[in-house]
Amino acid sequence: MEKFDVVIIGSGPGGYVAAIRAGQLGLKTAIVEKDKELGGTCLNIGCIPSKALLTSSDHFVFAKKEAAKHGIMIDKVSVDLSKMQQRKDKVVKTMNSGVRALMKTNKVTTFEGLGTITAPGKVSVKSSSGETQEIETKNIVIATGSVPVELPFAKFDGKTIVSSTEALLFTEPPPKFLVIGAGAIGLELGSVWNRLGSEVTMLEFLPRIALGFDLELSNLLQRSLTAQGITFHLETKVTSVKVDNGRVTALATKGSEELKFDADKVLVSVGRRPFSEGVGAEKVGVQFDGQKRIKVDKNFRTNVEGIYAIGDVIAGAMLAHKAEDEGIACVEIIAGKPGHVNYDAIPGIIYTNPELAGVGLTEDQAKEKGIDVRIDRILGAHILQHAASELIAEPTSVIEFGGSSEDLGRTTHSHPTLSEAVKEAALAVEKRALHIINR
Ligand code: NAI
Repeated sequence: MEKFDVVIIGSGPGGYVAAIRAGQLGLKTAIVEKDKELGGTCLNIGCIPSKALLTSSDHFVFAKKEAAKHGIMIDKVSVDLSKMQQRKDKVVKTMNSGVRALMKTNKVTTFEGLGTITAPGKVSVKSSSGETQEIETKNIVIATGSVPVELPFAKFDGKTIVSSTEALLFTEPPPKFLVIGAGAIGLELGSVWNRLGSEVTMLEFLPRIALGFDLELSNLLQRSLTAQGITFHLETKVTSVKVDNGRVTALATKGSEELKFDADKVLVSVGRRPFSEGVGAEKVGVQFDGQKRIKVDKNFRTNVEGIYAIGDVIAGAMLAHKAEDEGIACVEIIAGKPGHVNYDAIPGIIYTNPELAGVGLTEDQAKEKGIDVRIDRILGAHILQHAASELIAEPTSVIEFGGSSEDLGRTTHSHPTLSEAVKEAALAVEKRALHIINR
């Protein structure tokens, strides 16, 4: 039987990127995927289809509300949702083929089926038709990702009580759409359906939306989304969700107030949990932490020799690009190279309009650490702006290189561009901004 240098279980952005890098490094590599298509949650039922619908629905709003301001007169703008969904599916399919082609060019062997570690160095793959294949390998990388968290009183039924997966597939905008949890998923999918005509109400347990992002900008984003028609209830604890005749009734408490909401569909977006069931990790003695995440050291090694883990299944932000960089570092380490991830320079983005992006410390986190927030090295940058997802890349690079706001402010930026705003913000640190009032 052929023996691999590395077998990666899971083909999401963490797994497939790790496979490509392993192939580049000359390791004999295999990837195991239980689903028909490669690409995992992000490509098939997450970031990519969301971004497709976010883009399409944003174009619709532009055509309806903004185009005329540009002198572009469009009569009777309407949405053909089935066409919009077809485009989304095509985007996903094109990328599926792209990932498959990348596996081939990098000489990565693909196994379709559920991968289970039966012993260190041994992975069994069970295909959907029930056949089992045994693979031998020197190293195993677990990259099995995460799944949506369910609320005990609102179990997913895939039709009325839905997760992000089904909320990407609606064939018509639910007239009334309730969203539980105002994090990245709730805000993005709430935006999509609000733009396409749903009446969206978001219930959030905390006194703020977009936890983890700069508070001031999160509050401004909330204001902007409210102006776009979304209703927010913060500090609201949902206590029950009932479905009767295909309609939802949710009860919640907000301080001493009892609230009742009715809706056609409810999205539960209260977080994701690591997906490690069925991979056999516990059977071979791999240790988990209190939150069921696989425990690894800084080199992504579990406590079992030759078994590594990366991405959503280990601690840290559940982000595709974090998983990718861990995958790369992990296989570089397996190849005897010094792989490394700088966790201080991982940007996070919410693809609303405006987009909310952040990297490094927030102002509050810096204050908690007793850091004077105006001096020297850039430790964090936060942007609320159209195309913030692109703009955040520049301060991220500066953080990666240990640069300061002065470095950024002295760098020539093309004019006219959006990125000039980043330079202005850097100059504003020393009250030297040129096109805004310095405070
Ligand atoms: P999240 O953790 O970002 O937000 C969940 C929100 O639900 C929190 O604000 C929390 O306070 C609230 N919540 C929890 N229980 C609640 C309850 N019972 N009632 C009301 N509110 C409640 O989780 P989300 O949005 O589901 O996303 C899951 C993961 O996927 C996150 O790690 C997120 O970063 C990632 N993701 C990232 C995206 C991006 O980078 N653009 C897009 C989508 C997901």
